[in-house]
Amino acid sequence: MTGPGRGANPGRPARFVTLEGGEGAGKSTLALGLRRRLGELGFECLVTREPGGSPKAELIREKLLSGQIAPFGPFAEALMFQAARIDHVERAIKPALARGEWVISDRFADSTRAYQGAVGRLDPGLVLGLERAALGAFKPDLTLVLDVPVEVGLARAALRRGAGGADRFEREGRAFHTRLREAYLRIAEAEPGRCVVIDAALEPAAVEDMAWAALESRLLRTAERAGLAR
Ligand code: TYD
Repeated sequence: MTGPGRGANPGRPARFVTLEGGEGAGKSTLALGLRRRLGELGFECLVTREPGGSPKAELIREKLLSGQIAPFGPFAEALMFQAARIDHVERAIKPALARGEWVISDRFADSTRAYQGAVGRLDPGLVLGLERAALGAFKPDLTLVLDVPVEVGLARAALRRGAGGADRFEREGRAFHTRLREAYLRIAEAEPGRCVVIDAALEPAAVEDMAWAALESRLLRTAERAGLAR
């Protein structure tokens, strides 16, 4: 969703970018890299994440990732993710866009489509219906889908975790992560105007270059045109 272009980045429309993908895809590293590059061009940018990103949504995050909601099944989890998302959008994302800041969110609604929908085998119509109820017409201007082979992602997630315990989703098996990867690729294929698939098995610097190229061609050039037109 495009902001009004006043405030933090005067005359240049604010944009909402989401990063999606399986475990260990490198989303949080990429979010910081993209914010740095936007900053070099003078754009202010909020980096946020889901589940969470606002105080109330962070409370729901704890419940979800500790596995307390899992026994209720994927539908209850989808409801909780959407409840957290409503607060995140209303309290953090929309206010930042309204101030004219860009927003980069590490995960957003496609995570519910992929994890609870495709992997949890919820009816796709139900998942989309919930999404519409939570978000209305609000959606990202650009979604970068970070694609990595399952083994690479799991090995990275294990490294990052170190001696700490795996969360509810990292504990899932290989079949779960394979299904997840396929789900993301299908989402990207179905919405090519919004989504770009990035080969995230590459080095972080190369991933950042590719992601930046996508962001530049999809959003910055159009932002510049909009700025010039003012
Ligand atoms: P997090 O520790 O943020 O992991 P990651 O670095 O992989 O993003 O945990 C978020 C977990 O929650 C992750 O396993 C994906 C899952 N999730 C869903 O199942 N549905 C959702 O809608 C969202 C936002 C996340």
